[in-house]
Amino acid sequence: MSIKSLKIQNIRNLDHVELEPSDAVNLIYGVNGSGKTSLLEAINFLGLARSFRTRKFAYLVTHEQKESLVFAQLQSPGDHSLQPLGVSRDTSGNVNIRYTATNIDISQLASLVPLLVINTDSFQILEGSPSIRRQFIDWGCFHADQSYIKAWRSFKRVLQQRNSLLKCGKIDPQIRGVWDAELVKYAQQITQMRQRYIDQLLPDFLAISQRLMGEIDLSLSFSPGWDQKRALDELLEEQLPRDLKQGYTAAGPQRADMRIKVDGVSASERLSRGQKKLVVSALKLAQGVVYNRFKEDNCIYLIDDLPSELDAKHCQLFCQYLEQMGSQCFITCVEPESLAKYWQEDTALQSFKMQAGQLITSDDQQAKEI
Ligand SMILES: Nc1ncnc2c1ncn2[C@@H]1O[C@H](COP(=O)(O)OP(=O)(O)OP(=O)(O)O)[C@@H](O)[C@H]1O
Ligand SMILES: [Mg+2]
Repeated sequence: MSIKSLKIQNIRNLDHVELEPSDAVNLIYGVNGSGKTSLLEAINFLGLARSFRTRKFAYLVTHEQKESLVFAQLQSPGDHSLQPLGVSRDTSGNVNIRYTATNIDISQLASLVPLLVINTDSFQILEGSPSIRRQFIDWGCFHADQSYIKAWRSFKRVLQQRNSLLKCGKIDPQIRGVWDAELVKYAQQITQMRQRYIDQLLPDFLAISQRLMGEIDLSLSFSPGWDQKRALDELLEEQLPRDLKQGYTAAGPQRADMRIKVDGVSASERLSRGQKKLVVSALKLAQGVVYNRFKEDNCIYLIDDLPSELDAKHCQLFCQYLEQMGSQCFITCVEPESLAKYWQEDTALQSFKMQAGQLITSDDQQAKEI
């Protein structure tokens, strides 16, 4: 999937911006506060109807405006026709998503526009709470297996029911038995899909990290949220007094996590800032590779301030890998010189200069010469 044209209205400091990006590398540069991250936000809004930075739409819509709108023409691989997609949201909470004259919902949108974001928040995969790592795994499962979203939603519903019964303090054993059986069924489905996804991701993650960082003793392991030597139904029974006391269910996929270690030590504790950026980038690049294998299509990468934290050699390795993947990328940086030199002559490179919320398109050749 690639974005052939974009029309952005009222996203942060972008009141009206239009662009025709390249299918390959798009460099967005400009001084601090010019609107580079806002442009990535607009593409994220196109794919998810929300911001990647804030949960509050009020911060995403341009100050004193009531509605954000992003319109795009999309092209699928092997198809020359363009499909229109429009996503709008207003401050009253109304979301409207139209794809080829049909209304679609947010999960259909997320599946249609597969986005992978690499920004300062990505460090949270290593440094943040397990929920961030579950989001990472769930992104992959959602795209890899159509049945994942249904199993996940059902699990969430049953878990909420069980937890509200626990909060009441007393549960009829028969009713609990029914909920627990449902919970275990969905927990197993989710866990199988998550484990399968990690198994598929792991070899690519290790190969890409080696390419970006050289020989490094990295490991990635998945913990499903309960002791796998124990049956979940038995565990739920055994832990009931504790669950009742706490008012929530302690064991299950809602506690799943992923551990990344270097030399057997937590990567979050061991690695430097630049190395952490390379590890989280390798994770996201591996997700793109696995996605491509499943769907025979590419994800769209949004990479905010690619050069930050990286030295010239690692920056170049990162760019080379991206280029080889053939995905459409939107990459921001402050100085175009910091990235323009890393691309092959035949790469379709398009540069866009942001200036006070306006876009100034510069010739791709010119960018290579900078
Ligand atoms: N809701 C909003 N309405 C209007 N302007 C906003 C809104 N939210 C943020 N801004 C402004 O938009 C401008 C562009 O922000 P953005 O984060 O896109 O800059 P940037 O080019 O990525 O800068 P940097 O190089 O510092 O990362 C900033 O001046 C910011 O204050
Ligand atoms: Mg920025």
